[in-house]
Amino acid sequence: MPYTCLTIEVADRVATLTVNRPDKLNALNDATIRELGAAAQELRARGDVAGIFVTGAGSKAFVAGADIGELATHGPLEARELSRRGQRVFAMFAESTKPVIALINGFALGGGCELALACHIRIAAEGARLGLPETKLGTAPGYGGTQRLPRLVGQGRALELILTGEMIDAAEAHRIGLVNKVVPAAELRATGETMMRQMLERGPLAVALSIEAVGRGLDMPLEEGLAMEANHFGILASTADMREGMAAFLEKRAPAFRGQ
Ligand code: COA
Repeated sequence: MPYTCLTIEVADRVATLTVNRPDKLNALNDATIRELGAAAQELRARGDVAGIFVTGAGSKAFVAGADIGELATHGPLEARELSRRGQRVFAMFAESTKPVIALINGFALGGGCELALACHIRIAAEGARLGLPETKLGTAPGYGGTQRLPRLVGQGRALELILTGEMIDAAEAHRIGLVNKVVPAAELRATGETMMRQMLERGPLAVALSIEAVGRGLDMPLEEGLAMEANHFGILASTADMREGMAAFLEKRAPAFRGQ
């Protein structure tokens, strides 16, 4: 579909989804949220896409939050519906069986921080600033921030960020585990590429089931999560890829996985 608020470029099996409203620091208005949902569906279906980067246009912002101009006009029921819609869209990224890496090139605030939280991996440029400033506006995170942030960094740190609404720099975000890596801005893309290529060289079924096990397992009692893990382990034992991976190791050669 034609997009007006984002772009998708595909090269060498990797899609780059760029939120593209730089004059508004890539703020997520309703149209952008809807397009993100359509893009997630498109990327899931495309056979020529095996991994996804999510980033923001320009050098200043990843995404500076939900569009405050729009939010200001919503009543309670509209706001609840907006939140549910955004949550469903972000869940499509979190539940993608293709690896999704956020390249955080600047401000990742509010809904932008939540979009990054829904990605599997977060890599930040040194100048990036992250935060959930919603309480400063008299509202609260509505696109998964109150749930995904504590799961990632722990309850105390999540509450500190949410209740103060203050931004933190990339180094602090790395220290508390909010981002996986911090690199100079000029190296952001290359660092993401290196990590993505490593993931795409692995068995694709193993990668997909690992994403599912970690993501879904966090919402399950340990015993159920372990049962899911064992089921995945069993499924993988029935695949040609597992036999290929082990044969390649024993024969001291690189594996040729086919996703089967
Ligand atoms: N929603 C709507 N518009 C936004 C926006 C948002 N979340 N964030 C930035 N913009 C717009 C600004 O209104 C401005 O538009 P204008 O040029 O038409 O006036 C433009 O983007 C540039 O932003 P500006 O504030 O001038 O840049 P800055 O460098 O002075 O400050 C920020 C950058 C990120 C600190 C500041 O824009 C900000 O605090 N944004 C809101 C962050 C936020 O609260 N997000 C959570 C929303 S729930």
